[in-house]
Amino acid sequence: MRVLGIESSCDETGIALYDTDKGLLAHALYSQIAMHAEYGGVVPELASRDHIRKALPLIDDVLSEAQLTRNDIDAVAYTAGPGLVGALLVGAAIGRSIAWALDLPALAINHMEGHLLSPLLEDEPPEFPFVSLLVSGGHTLLIDVQGVGEYQLLGESIDDAVGEAFDKTAKMLGLSYPGGPILAALAEQGTSDKYLFPRPMTNRPGLDFSFSGLKTFAMNTWRDSEKTEQDKADICLAFQTAAVETLAIKCKRALKQAGRKTLVVAGGVSANKALRVRLDAMPHINVYYPRQEFCSDNGAMIAFAGAMRQSAMVKDDSPAFSARPRWPLDELSPPSAV
Ligand code: KG4
Ligand code: ZN
Repeated sequence: MRVLGIESSCDETGIALYDTDKGLLAHALYSQIAMHAEYGGVVPELASRDHIRKALPLIDDVLSEAQLTRNDIDAVAYTAGPGLVGALLVGAAIGRSIAWALDLPALAINHMEGHLLSPLLEDEPPEFPFVSLLVSGGHTLLIDVQGVGEYQLLGESIDDAVGEAFDKTAKMLGLSYPGGPILAALAEQGTSDKYLFPRPMTNRPGLDFSFSGLKTFAMNTWRDSEKTEQDKADICLAFQTAAVETLAIKCKRALKQAGRKTLVVAGGVSANKALRVRLDAMPHINVYYPRQEFCSDNGAMIAFAGAMRQSAMVKDDSPAFSARPRWPLDELSPPSAV
């Protein structure tokens, strides 16, 4: 079965074709970063309009890269949430229209399930069960994963997501958007013992996170510094070290609590090198990540999630469809047969 995947939940239009026998056939991504950078963050209405402009040409690109035509598509998977509702509706409308026009089954995919399953696209995928750390611009989640659709929430952020804290801290320091990768790059110039930031919520039991205090700590440290370029790099490093250490402490705790030896990390922040170095150093734990290009939003993870749920794919003649700005992962259930 060849599944067309459509991702449009935020500021990236991602399209891919996944074959359940041959694996990933082709994928394409258009990032709207340059357009939103001018405003210092994502402008939802501009995002929706750009998805409309880019989705169909990207679908044609992916088909021609795979040397296939529209008639070779067997099913359509599209992101239906969580995310920006207008942006989601574009992908959902296009996905459902293609399915209707070609008389194909279609499936609404949860964006965070896409991230969660993305490391399974790699050549040596992790085996179930495992603990998943999902770190993106909107979510920081620790999940015990028994199989596709069998998700138990262990912990989450009670305020900012870790990616959001990276982005807000970067913005406060005058770095451009999206700040996460830029802050991480600047941290490489930092002096490691200059500042020590707190590790929020690590000295009490539980698996929840709080990252907004770290952002405020960075702001106060910057305010009280001499505001040199070196101070900026030192603050980036201290912030990143504290965020990474906090994630690592909670991952260790989650693995112990769930009795797992495998950790699977995904979402935009899983591209962070310092996080990977720290997690890879955990003794007796196997850690898996998506390849760099599939850490951030992409169509491949949505096509793949659709393929993993092919038994749930249905043809639907109704013109109605919906998107869910909020869609907790633990509301999902397993497909009847995977
Ligand atoms: O998964 P993603 O592309 O979109 C969401 O679903 O939110 O994640 C984007 C987030 C942004 O906050 C971005 O700054 C962060 O991932 N990010 C990073 C790095 N690369 C992307 N944060 C820290 N270090 C990085 N290298
Ligand atoms: Zn995402």
